[in-house]
Amino acid sequence: MPAMNDAPFVPRDVLEKPDQINTTKPDLSHANTDTPALGLPGEDGRIVTVLKSAGGCGASVVATNLAGEFCRQTNEAVALIDLDIQFGNLGFYLDIRPRHTLLDALQAGKRFDETFLKSLMEVHETGIHVLSAPRHMVPLDQIDEGFILKLIRLLKKTYPVSVIELSAGWAHWFGVVFSQSDEIVVVCEPTVRGASGLARVLQSLQDMMFDDISLNVVANKVQKYGESRRCVDQMQGTVLKPIQSIGFDEKSVEKAISAGMLLSQAAKRSIPYRDMQQIAGQLLKQINPPGEAELNSRKALVQPVPRG
Ligand SMILES: Nc1ncnc2c1ncn2[C@@H]1O[C@H](COP(=O)(O)OP(=O)(O)O)[C@@H](O)[C@H]1O
Ligand SMILES: [Mg+2]
Repeated sequence: MPAMNDAPFVPRDVLEKPDQINTTKPDLSHANTDTPALGLPGEDGRIVTVLKSAGGCGASVVATNLAGEFCRQTNEAVALIDLDIQFGNLGFYLDIRPRHTLLDALQAGKRFDETFLKSLMEVHETGIHVLSAPRHMVPLDQIDEGFILKLIRLLKKTYPVSVIELSAGWAHWFGVVFSQSDEIVVVCEPTVRGASGLARVLQSLQDMMFDDISLNVVANKVQKYGESRRCVDQMQGTVLKPIQSIGFDEKSVEKAISAGMLLSQAAKRSIPYRDMQQIAGQLLKQINPPGEAELNSRKALVQPVPRG
């Protein structure tokens, strides 16, 4: 592993060919239009999107446990949506064998409405409502911006908070997800590879003109000493907000994953759980979600008045 120098870390330092990003930039000409992330009456639920800087950094662990913590701290149902459509396995982290998946939503066409969405969700004992990724590989281009926008609008109508996990490889419809998100959580490992991935993600968001996005960088698997801490300090230089850390504790995290449980259920006293609680609390303060009752009453205000 190359040694890290002490110079401040800037995204372009670790991007070998910064121009490359521009050439692969997805067409997002319509992603920034249409609806604002907040403010449409009847669509007041909040969206927290979890992105990863590289596979294996712990995005699924973070997404699942954030959703669980949102449930626990708000006492409301929280949606967890696996948009890692080709390799997503969030159900596995909660010991759920999904009867329905995102594919059912895709195939439903016009029938895809709030009731249909709810029927696809598997309800976990902790209050998380999970929409799983398709069981088989679905070509990325089978999903389009229109479908994603509809899915997110239905989520905002139905759940006070929804957590979306995205894949490591970016699809053209990611722009819609970003434009509809209240908070984006980028999970990265405190390593040179993690820092490089983080730089790419930040640079790409910037290239896509999502400068004003509310970005939260979470360094996962942070060890107390050594390279880990130094990487976190260096990454800190790339983002305007403080980086949040989740401690490294393989035993506790693996125990939870292999039991299909949340950290709050399997490793309540672990450092990663303590860190996760704090991050979830901070995010909740930032998004200030409505309660379900409030959501429903606002929705009622915009229901069309029946004629006659
Ligand atoms: N805080 C942590 N400490 C130790 N190991 C962790 C931690 N978070 C995640 N892991 C390990 O990292 C591996 C990958 O996690 P996962 O959430 O599946 O990554 P991703 O979704 O980003 O590909 C898991 O096997 C898990 O045990
Ligand atoms: Mg994952």
